[in-house]
This record gives sequence, C-alpha cells and structure tokens, in this order.
Amino acid sequence: MNNDTYYVHTFGCQMNERDSETVAGILEQLGLVAADTPEQARVLAVNTCSVREKPEEKVFSLLGQWRMLKRDEPTRIIVVCGCMSQVAGDRIAQRAPYVDIIIGPRNLGHLRDALAQRLESAERKPVIIADSQELLPEGLPAHRCGDMSAFVNITYGCNNFCAYCIVPFARGPEVSRSTPDILAECRDAVAAGYREITLLGQNVNSYGHDLHPQTDFASLLEQVGKLPDLQRLRFTTSHPKDLSERLLQTMANTATVCEHLHLPIQAGGDHVLAQMGRGYTCRHFISLVERTRELIPDISITTDIMVGFPGENRAQFEQTLRAVERIRFDQAFMFKYNDRPGTKASNMPDRIPEDEKQQRLLQLVSLQNRIARDVNRAAVGQIFEVLVEGSDRKAKNCVRGRSRQNKIVVFPGSLDMRGKLVQVRAVEGFLWGHRGELVSRNRS
Ligand code: 5AD
Ligand code: SF4
Repeated sequence: MNNDTYYVHTFGCQMNERDSETVAGILEQLGLVAADTPEQARVLAVNTCSVREKPEEKVFSLLGQWRMLKRDEPTRIIVVCGCMSQVAGDRIAQRAPYVDIIIGPRNLGHLRDALAQRLESAERKPVIIADSQELLPEGLPAHRCGDMSAFVNITYGCNNFCAYCIVPFARGPEVSRSTPDILAECRDAVAAGYREITLLGQNVNSYGHDLHPQTDFASLLEQVGKLPDLQRLRFTTSHPKDLSERLLQTMANTATVCEHLHLPIQAGGDHVLAQMGRGYTCRHFISLVERTRELIPDISITTDIMVGFPGENRAQFEQTLRAVERIRFDQAFMFKYNDRPGTKASNMPDRIPEDEKQQRLLQLVSLQNRIARDVNRAAVGQIFEVLVEGSDRKAKNCVRGRSRQNKIVVFPGSLDMRGKLVQVRAVEGFLWGHRGELVSRNRS
C-alpha cells in the first residue's frame, strides 16, 4: 500500500460517474494520487446506487473485500458515497462498521474536512453525513475520467416522485445550476480537449424553472451548443411530460446536438402509467416520438421500460409490448420492478410474483432485441459520423467509437484516429450497433 493514494469504484448511472470525478478531485486536492488497484490504495471510495436491490448487494460484497484489505493495513480509510449513503446510511454503518465515512450525494462539499480529520485521528466509528436538502456547492474540484465525453451536471435531484423510484429520496429536491456556472464548466471541458459534452440531470427538461429569472432547457442547450470547438452535445435524461416543442425545435436547429434522445416510457398501459405517476398517456408518448422523428428524421430514440409494477395485469403488460412494437426503439434498458422501501409503490397491493416478472422481462427483451437488430440492419449502407474512442477489444486491427446516434461502430482502423471524427459506412447491423468501413477522415 502507498500512503498517498486513492481508488474510486463507481456503481450506477452517469450522474454517479460525474460524482466520482468530484470525489477524485477532492482526494487529489488533499495530495493523494490515483492508484491502479484497491490493494495499493490508502483511501478506498465507493460510489453507490440505490435504484434497485442488486447494485446495493454488490456494494456490500465489495465492502467485504475491502474489509480484508483494511484488516491487513488498518490505516486504510473506506468512504461510501452516493445514493445508498443517503437512504441507507445506518444500514451500512451496521452491516459494515469498519467503514470510515458515509456521505450522501448532496454533501460532497464536506468530504475534504471529514477525510482530513480521519487521516489524522484514530476514530473507529463510521461518520454519517447525509442531508438530501443541502445544496452542493459550486467550485468543487473534479478529476475528469470520461474517455471522450465530459459530463456536466445541470440539475441536481428530482421532484417527480414516480411511485417506484428512490431517487428523489436519495438525491433530494430538484435544483438547477445557474446557466453561467454551467457554461463556464463546459468551456473548461472544451479547453481541456473534450469534443463532446453530456449534460446531466434526472429530468433535464425541467431545467431552469427554479432560477431567477426563469429559463428553460432549450435556451441552455442553444447556448452550450454554440460554444466554439464543441463538436457534439448530448443530454440525459428527458422526462416525456416536460419534452416541449421548443426543445425539439432547438435540437433540430442546433448543429452540435446529437441525433439521440433517451426518453423513458416505463410502461405502455395508461392505467399503469397513472399508477406510476408519470404524467402522460401512451398516446401522448407516441405523439412525442412521431413529432421528434418528423423534425429530426435520423434520430435514434432509446428508452427505459419496467415490467411487473404492482397491479400490472397480463393485458396491461401486453399494452407495453404493443407500444414497443409500434414505436421501434433503437435500444431499451429493461427492468423487473423492484421494491424500494419508502416509495409509494412499496405500499401498493397486488404484487406480481417474481417468476411472472421474469417471464414478462424475457418476452419484452426478446421483442426489443429483434427490433434493435432490425433497425441496425436497415441502416446498412448509410454513412455515420463516428468519434473514435480506441481499439476494439475483440476485432483485430479495428477501432471502435460512437455515432451521433450513440450507436457503437467498429471498423478497420488505427489508434491514430483516437479522438477524431471520421465518416464510416455501416456494412453490417447487430444488436449492439454496426460493423463498418472507413469512408473519409474529416475534422479532428
Ligand atoms: N425497480 C425497477 N426499475 C427501476 N427504475 C427506477 N426505479 C426502479 C425500481 N424500483 C428504472 C426506471 C428508470 C431507470 C433508471 O431505472 O426504468 O428509468
Ligand atoms: Fe425517478 Fe421519476 Fe425522478 Fe426519473 S423522473 S429520477 S424515474 S422519480
């Protein structure tokens, strides 16, 4: 072990990846440097996810491994950050009393002091810092880890309280960052060499309602999109209830905004959508998709879908299948409903048995996989702009990157293309994206 090193492990979403960059930045400000493995590190930090049970269990199993490392070297410090720290801090302290600091996503402003104290004291009880109402301060350091895309938060928290979701409890009420702060961070990222920016929020479409003067996501997108030297602008996640015509127009008219929209549908039946508290009908969702495709014909649309929400009967599940068949998403993240204690849905009657949920999930996945393959096969012959990320691990002498539609594209090429934008023709379509051939190298 080296006394001056740290290691960060991240579970969960892009927002967590961004928070881990802040954690790394704070640790570096304290004079620590990144270690390649946990064994080498004095400070071990894990950024946790509470959205479903599985990632929570993975955290406890990782902590079990780190406990052994701490047994060998008792001066190691273990930090648990992220959503679980907020909603299950006491549970972590009980099950893993060897953890030093448990700190919620809104409280990272206190990490530096908590760590500095711990590095000096012999205190053995976990310290819990978890206040989801706190405002994360501006100006925290960050060590960006994104290969090609710089993640920039635009809102923190969520006010929607969808019946199944733990996020509003874990990440607190929605707060928008000021437009000048966001623009400054985006400019810095571009100056640091990033060609692509991904704007992050639980519901980016509601950006700005709480600011004075009020603004909206479309204005922000337009301003970030105009930054000199920025080549690609992405954002996630959009809530269908707040996806405005003005935003679609701005996406269509801002050249840097990529042709990709992640729009979670969650379910295809109106009764289930209402029970979930999603605030739209299936018909409205379909009209949004149709309008989006009208304005931006080469857009790819991806989604999140859940099966087995409490009370969802077979017929309602089949409405989801029909919606998926009709919409033809480019890709979907599909989940079995998972009970999150404290949410509205966890008190709802008519639980769906686990094996029924599993069967529905398999049926949905097989339908969606067929659609995704068909969509990607239908694109064979088309030319895509690809931002090259590096060599492909499987295909020999090939590189891989992402198209503006956020599809993986693998094609023969060399590492000097890394970080460059090139034109690639799709020659074969798969579930995961395209195999292609280089047409031309364009701007770098
Ligand atoms: N059970 C299963 N899936 C969930 N998601 C959120 N909460 C739950 C839950 N309790 C899914 C939603 C969301 C995605 C990030 O995770 O589909 O869009
Ligand atoms: Fe959860 Fe709904 Fe907020 Fe998304 S919009 S984070 S699903 S409560």
